[in-house]
Amino acid sequence: MSPKRARTRGLPQTGEAEPKTLDALNAMIAASKPLVPGATRAVLGEGPLGAAIAFVGEQPGDKEDRQGRPFVGPAGQLLERAMSEAGIDRHRVYVTNAVKHFKFEQRGKRRIHQKPTPGEVEHYRWWLDQELKLVHPKLVVALGATAVLALAGKPFSIARFRGRIDFRGHAGFITVHPSYLLRMPDKSAKEQGYRDFVRDLQSIRRLAAVSALHPATARKRGRSAAAGRAPRSASRSAHSR
Ligand code: URA
Repeated sequence: MSPKRARTRGLPQTGEAEPKTLDALNAMIAASKPLVPGATRAVLGEGPLGAAIAFVGEQPGDKEDRQGRPFVGPAGQLLERAMSEAGIDRHRVYVTNAVKHFKFEQRGKRRIHQKPTPGEVEHYRWWLDQELKLVHPKLVVALGATAVLALAGKPFSIARFRGRIDFRGHAGFITVHPSYLLRMPDKSAKEQGYRDFVRDLQSIRRLAAVSALHPATARKRGRSAAAGRAPRSASRSAHSR
């Protein structure tokens, strides 16, 4: 996306150059004001530069907002448990969010999470693009619908497109958000949902271990990046499938 795009409330302004380092990008994000007032701070992505896998969530929750770290609340704990069962070390992957500020409704003492609107997701998208450019993961994982919208630029059904996908030039993977599993009321459905999630994470670990994961490279070598299945492209119309 063009850095010339006019933005408000501390996001990149007309003519602002793309940051050259993740520290520079993070300084820009940290200095910005929330689009919807209330959040304590911007919650930055976390993990090593050049991590093989980048996980993208929706937005920080209450705990993340208080601690200033992504995925440290209940959804983060579930994600970390599932990662560990799938053989993924959280400290060796990059974890971030599509939206950098917590949006909530105050109910008494509780701050209840509010889903970001498509306009809010779009508002933060330039940053996510810059972040992924700088971290340069082999595989970008969308956790849930908001992350898919941010990465693909349009909505995709998780049920239909779950699995390997291309996000505008990034090798990607769509899976559910851990909060979705936490909210499932039925115990056995929840257990099955968790097992499916761990299975997705195992596929993600294997895919990220494939050295030539970029679709163009994989095509050149005459093989699909995913075992026996051609990746779908999120840059083509989702509605044509
Ligand atoms: N949910 C998210 O999408 N991100 C977080 O950081 C925490 C919960």
